[in-house]
Amino acid sequence: MAQYTDELKEEIRSANDIVDVISQYVTLKRSGRNFFGLCPFHKEKSPSFSVSADRQYFHCFGCHKGGDVFTFISEIEKISFKEALEVLAERAKIDLPVNENPEFSKTKYLKERMYKINAETTIFFHERLYKPLAKIAQDYVKKRKLDNNTLKAFKIGYSGEYNELYKFLKAKGFKDEEILSTGLVNRNDRGEYIDRFRKRLMFPIMDVSGRVIAFGGRKLENNDKIAKYINSNENLVYSKKKHLFALNLAKQSNSKKIILVEGYMDAISLYQRGINNVVASLGTALTEEQGRLLRKYCEQVILSYDSDGAGQEAIMRGLTILENQGCDARVLQMEGAKDPDEYVIKYGSGRFNLLVENAISLVEFKIKMVKNKYNLENSNDKIRFLKEITKILSNVENKIEKEIYIGKISEKYNISKEAIYSEVNKATYGEKVNEKILVKNISRKNKEVEINPTIIKRENMIIYLLINHFKESYEAIATNITIEDFKLEANRFIFEKILESPAEDSEKILQTIANIEDPEIQSHVSEILVTDYGINSIDKCIEDVVNIYNRERLTNRKFEIIKLLENNSSLSREETEKLGNELNSIMIELAKKSRR
Ligand code: GTP
Ligand code: MN
Repeated sequence: MAQYTDELKEEIRSANDIVDVISQYVTLKRSGRNFFGLCPFHKEKSPSFSVSADRQYFHCFGCHKGGDVFTFISEIEKISFKEALEVLAERAKIDLPVNENPEFSKTKYLKERMYKINAETTIFFHERLYKPLAKIAQDYVKKRKLDNNTLKAFKIGYSGEYNELYKFLKAKGFKDEEILSTGLVNRNDRGEYIDRFRKRLMFPIMDVSGRVIAFGGRKLENNDKIAKYINSNENLVYSKKKHLFALNLAKQSNSKKIILVEGYMDAISLYQRGINNVVASLGTALTEEQGRLLRKYCEQVILSYDSDGAGQEAIMRGLTILENQGCDARVLQMEGAKDPDEYVIKYGSGRFNLLVENAISLVEFKIKMVKNKYNLENSNDKIRFLKEITKILSNVENKIEKEIYIGKISEKYNISKEAIYSEVNKATYGEKVNEKILVKNISRKNKEVEINPTIIKRENMIIYLLINHFKESYEAIATNITIEDFKLEANRFIFEKILESPAEDSEKILQTIANIEDPEIQSHVSEILVTDYGINSIDKCIEDVVNIYNRERLTNRKFEIIKLLENNSSLSREETEKLGNELNSIMIELAKKSRR
């Protein structure tokens, strides 16, 4: 961190509104002064993730992650704090001091060159497809029924032979080092530069903004010895697990659903037939990053993986990833064709759209998988089937959803609803209750639960007042409330910090606290900052809260004295009198306070 000054940090922070930044990852809805959404850091169905536009903090009341915009980016992108700072600087177009980080600007320049190379290469391949020498590719494209609009939309091309691309790029003025970085050209043992893609049908892979970041190339010959597809290797601008083929086009469809297929040709073929909301994961299992990307652009994802069965595990994983991110994920069931491309050519887009409409949920898919294992004519099998599906059903949180599934299953498999319910309840309350207790006993939250929640809220509000209304509140609080008054450790810690370094204004206070490098404390602070305490008058609020503590202190002392007086055998006459006087004045004080 030493590299960047605090001023620069602040400049970057204020140039990146936390609501804007988080909105790129999470769908946020406004509610009062805060924004709410589904937490991107843990699985949940109802939003407990909160963002404060005023304080520029986020906090999840479910998993307790929280912090500022830098914390958010570093957590979600799984990068260091410093890298998060650089990402946000770039986002805000703030130049980072070059002499402080030469590596960074060098990389930035190289990336720009690589994008240029990819763009030039795309044109080179694409124009080549229309030349007479590309007859083999043209014939293939015809055979796959791709029309010219599609070739243009996807900038499909035909790669050269031997080192044609290399020579082309050199003529354009690119350096060897830059060309090699893209992986489009390799150098062999003899030091010769050879194109990676030769005599293949080329599919440029673009990022969401339409920049070409990589290529896939399909073989055209009927040669079993070479790979059907080869793709660009990962490099500075291309990370396979972070991108989805055709998302740049799919997002333009503005549809609430996106169809996820496996292959280039599936996406392209559906697109050509008017189904524009389609992306391809390119033969790899869906990653969390890709899931997040999808969640950003749609609400529902329809998985349409090949029917050859290779992918049941992949489907399950994909669905789970998507559901965890709050996406409505479904599986398309296809019969009569091995992949969407074949299906849509054979049966047309109308029938494919019907399959999309009838896609089933993760729960239904799981139940179907279980069913395939058993012969339901056999009563032993039927019992095992019931046991397994109740486990699945007991995890459905939504009551109505659960009821619908139970109704469907009862009807379809001829099992009484009562029997299913009774099993589901056993699974829900039998195992889960223990599970919850176990979690509670070890989590930090349980420690809080032992303290009265009203007290926690009150303490939090005091910290809130000190941070947000330092000038008005500091004196009253510091003179009336002590460190020992705080029940929650985190609050005690923060309060101590504030007392240690009395700052002139609240901004400083926030900085003091931001420098406490304890994630639990940061999480706690963000919770305080995003909570709406419903304060109308600051002064009245301070007065009230201080009063509460004073009254409590007086009440405690009152009982202490009463107890002492009750066992008065060891007290001298003077002492008894003194205590009696004190008690009197406490009673008067308390009476005054309660009248207010
Ligand atoms: P066609 O066979 O031309 O219809 O292509 P497809 O898109 O239907 O391909 P397929 O279903 O066989 O595979 C799905 C995706 O997996 C492809 O689009 C590729 O991204 C990837 N893939 C398939 N074969 C290979 C291979 O041999 N090597 C690599 N690296 N990827 C492949
Ligand atoms: Mn295919």
